Amino acid sequence: MTLKSKDLLGLKDLTEEEIEYILRTAKTMKLILESKNKKTPHLQGKSVITLFYENSTRTRLSFELAAKYMSASAANISVAASSVAKGETLIDTGKTIDMMGADVIVIRHSMAGAPHLLARNVKASVINAGDGMNEHPTQALLDMFTVVEKKGTLKGLKVAIIGDIYHSRVVRSNIWGMTKLGAEVCVAGPSTLIPRELDKVGVKVFNTVQEALIDADVVMGLRIQKERQKKGLFPSLREYYRFFGLDDKRLKLAKEDALVLHPGPVNRGVELSSAVIDGDKSLINEQVTNGVAVRMALLYLLTRRDSVEGIN
Ligand code: CP
Repeated sequence: MTLKSKDLLGLKDLTEEEIEYILRTAKTMKLILESKNKKTPHLQGKSVITLFYENSTRTRLSFELAAKYMSASAANISVAASSVAKGETLIDTGKTIDMMGADVIVIRHSMAGAPHLLARNVKASVINAGDGMNEHPTQALLDMFTVVEKKGTLKGLKVAIIGDIYHSRVVRSNIWGMTKLGAEVCVAGPSTLIPRELDKVGVKVFNTVQEALIDADVVMGLRIQKERQKKGLFPSLREYYRFFGLDDKRLKLAKEDALVLHPGPVNRGVELSSAVIDGDKSLINEQVTNGVAVRMALLYLLTRRDSVEGIN
């Protein structure tokens, strides 16, 4: 099997089979990550460039480590110190990277659709590392991987996602991905931060966090994205925590063996209490490790497309 597209731009475009194939490959990559010698030759002779127009710790570093663990050449373009600051367009920057022989460009951009524009204009595979409020597919893949690793499947699970749904590219990718794999996705948050017509994509919207949490198998908190909010959409962070924060008392509404996820970075005492973040249900640290495995899988699958095309 191969991935149909040369690029990974969103989970909306992937089939259930492709998502399962990526998760299966990530399982193998995690074994490599857990071994004593993390160096493999899978990406020998390949080059991976990270091009981040927005801040990142987890995504950027995990792509760089994933590339290096698999013996690729990896380089980061610091946008502030690059010719972008002199007015170079995204397409011209992309073509410049392409002409240096890059095999994969990993891009994060504040504009939805920027990775799609880049992908149409370069030969390299493009991976969307977050585009505005649209998608963050590799985050959702690592979220799904984390759940499947613990529960065996997503089929039939109730996943409650709490917080700033409107601005979240993580939630959009998780909705596409998790519903394709058979989960029931529910959301709750301040009414000003819930987009309309979520029911049309199979998502249940609850008015209170308590209703959403009842019997949930997976609880995901989302970061309050102050950088994307033009005006106050809720009174204060203290008020937010009072009505929507996840603490031990609220978590008791979920199933006894519920898993707690958060894409990070977490605002402690805003989205989740410190006790929940550091508690035994929390998989936030494991998500970070799984992010490397999932990104290793994607780099491997996208760069091997050329060599296996025609075989399948
Ligand atoms: N979850 C996530 O995308 O984290 P970073 O912004 O640190 O990459």
